[in-house]
Amino acid sequence: NYIKAFAPATVANVACGFDIFGFAVDEPGDVVELRRRAEPGIVISDITGDGGRLPRDSARNAVTVVMLRLLEHLGNTEFGGEVILHKNMPLGSGMGSSSASAVAGVYALNEMLGQPLTRQQLLPFAMEGERIACGSAHADNVGPALMGGFLVVRSYQPLDVFQIPVPEELYCTLVNPDIEVNTKDARFILRNEVSLKNAISQMGNVAGLIAGLMQEDYDLISRSMVDVIVEPIRAILIPEFNEVKQVAIAHGALGCSISGAGPSMFTLSKGRETAEQVGKAMQETFATAGIESNAYVSAI
Ligand code: HSE
Repeated sequence: NYIKAFAPATVANVACGFDIFGFAVDEPGDVVELRRRAEPGIVISDITGDGGRLPRDSARNAVTVVMLRLLEHLGNTEFGGEVILHKNMPLGSGMGSSSASAVAGVYALNEMLGQPLTRQQLLPFAMEGERIACGSAHADNVGPALMGGFLVVRSYQPLDVFQIPVPEELYCTLVNPDIEVNTKDARFILRNEVSLKNAISQMGNVAGLIAGLMQEDYDLISRSMVDVIVEPIRAILIPEFNEVKQVAIAHGALGCSISGAGPSMFTLSKGRETAEQVGKAMQETFATAGIESNAYVSAI
């Protein structure tokens, strides 16, 4: 009658894979507590860590909307539940904040109902949460938050996702500066057309990154962590972006780019020690511009 579920932050895009690549990190992450109650329907009894910004109405909060959709899909009109959401990461951080909440919620409900759906079957529901939170039902945050590891979205219609193995010594450094970027805005500023030249570059890097990860070829990973389509446009939303990126590479990161829609930045490194040093250097660079930040290092 009580379930507590954790879902992790995620790094979407991973440089060249806009809307198609994402991976889960160890921390931070959101927690949903779900308790049964006698009356049918789902209510939110508390939300912590959001500074009062998220809707408390279960018909408007992405977490509970996703849960209500699952109940509807299952034809379950009897279930009654009370939700407490613990937000452990800022909104608009580029760390998959809305997706971690939605995934924890839908996962907790599915567990309480005795797992009527598989994790993969829960994915379209979690994607609906993204549509509510930012206007687009992308899967590159919810996918890895739900399934773990490094996930590829091969196709959206029909939905086709798969996981790939990554090298054991591969670490992510995720640095979250104390500024906010609205995902909807960060999508709005993108162009709808891509030149053939840029498409060719991007496809080469996408293929290179996947091959590099699967073959444990760190040089190939490093050469492929290049985004010629989205990063050049979004970088303007992040103060000190170029400086922070340069410092990360200078300290041994294989590559550095924007995490999701930003403003968080991520790097991949070989070995935990390098990943930690890279994080310190990135934080110091943000600090010289008066921007405080948090850094998280995880194996992927
Ligand atoms: N792929 C999405 C974007 C992720 O970059 O807009 C948003 O977190």
